[in-house]
Amino acid sequence: MLTDSFPTVNLSHKPTPLERLDNLSADYQTNIWIKRDDCTGLAFGGNKSRQLEYYIGHAKSLGADTLLTTGAVQSNHVRMTVAAARKLNMDIEVQLEQRVARDQVEYHRSGNPFLVRLMGAKIHYYPVGEDEEGADQALIDRARELKAEGKNPYVIPLSNVKTPYGALGYVEAAEETLTQLQAMKIEPGIFVVPSGSAATHAGFLLGLRSLGCNVPVEGVCVRRDAQSQQQRVFTKIQSVIDLMGLDTRIDRDDIHCNDRFLAPGYGLLNEPTEQAILLMARREGIFLDPTYSGKAFAALVELLGTGRFGPDDHVVFLHTGGTPSLFGYPELADNAQEVR
Ligand SMILES: Cc1ncc(COP(=O)(O)O)c(C=O)c1O
Repeated sequence: MLTDSFPTVNLSHKPTPLERLDNLSADYQTNIWIKRDDCTGLAFGGNKSRQLEYYIGHAKSLGADTLLTTGAVQSNHVRMTVAAARKLNMDIEVQLEQRVARDQVEYHRSGNPFLVRLMGAKIHYYPVGEDEEGADQALIDRARELKAEGKNPYVIPLSNVKTPYGALGYVEAAEETLTQLQAMKIEPGIFVVPSGSAATHAGFLLGLRSLGCNVPVEGVCVRRDAQSQQQRVFTKIQSVIDLMGLDTRIDRDDIHCNDRFLAPGYGLLNEPTEQAILLMARREGIFLDPTYSGKAFAALVELLGTGRFGPDDHVVFLHTGGTPSLFGYPELADNAQEVR
């Protein structure tokens, strides 16, 4: 494997399944595949367990005994980091940022924040939602206090200026996915992935290109507009190339970012995303989430509607998880059909 030389811990069920969505494939007259990274196993699964394997591998190699990380109130990353710490018997402190303007009690108490409390993490709060470097700095300050108390803390950062160990998990996932596709003799026309911190998008794209696969990767913006996100992915890829000592080159034009489903903003629903979540739930019995996988699937639904892919073509949707956050958005089920 391309990432073999890096220390890791084992947190995920791998390989995750690559399944054909038979009902949606029939509806759209093409072959729609889903890479089930929502099934990585750890605390309901999701993309973050692959990323944490490399972050915590690095932390352990430094002798860390305490993890610190930050995220939105409904952060899947925070939930999975707490679970990883519990599984590995490490101490854990998390910071929840006020990033999403939602007052509903469910948003603040159900889904991910419920699970984080259930696992007994120490929770700090950060009053700003769009200050990644400030949020990381608050963790670094807290880590300094813990060090003074004799602990050996490790901060898993959010901002793009830190070494992106997590992206290695998606270099690995690209290799895993290509092996599965090659075994089935399938060459997809496109991969569709959500693009947030960009560890998934950057790692996956770099992994594919490093292995000689030139299939386009559509990164669906969940937090920033396409131009800022493209810059972020580009920077992250260069950092991963340096970290791995690769000689792969990725052109800026090869980084596709689609921000058509971002509005009204991070963690906020729009009509196509809501429809995409309902479509996947009602046609395939698979749950997407409002912040990441729902927006990414909305972008794929739009692409499928253009007729660009026919009966002999294949598309692959990377399901990155996030399903616990559904419980923070109970309005999604308001139009359920009930017989009284
Ligand atoms: C469910 C889910 N999907 C996608 C993403 C975005 O992945 P990345 O931060 O690697 O861009 C996240 C990030 O938190 C997530 O929780």
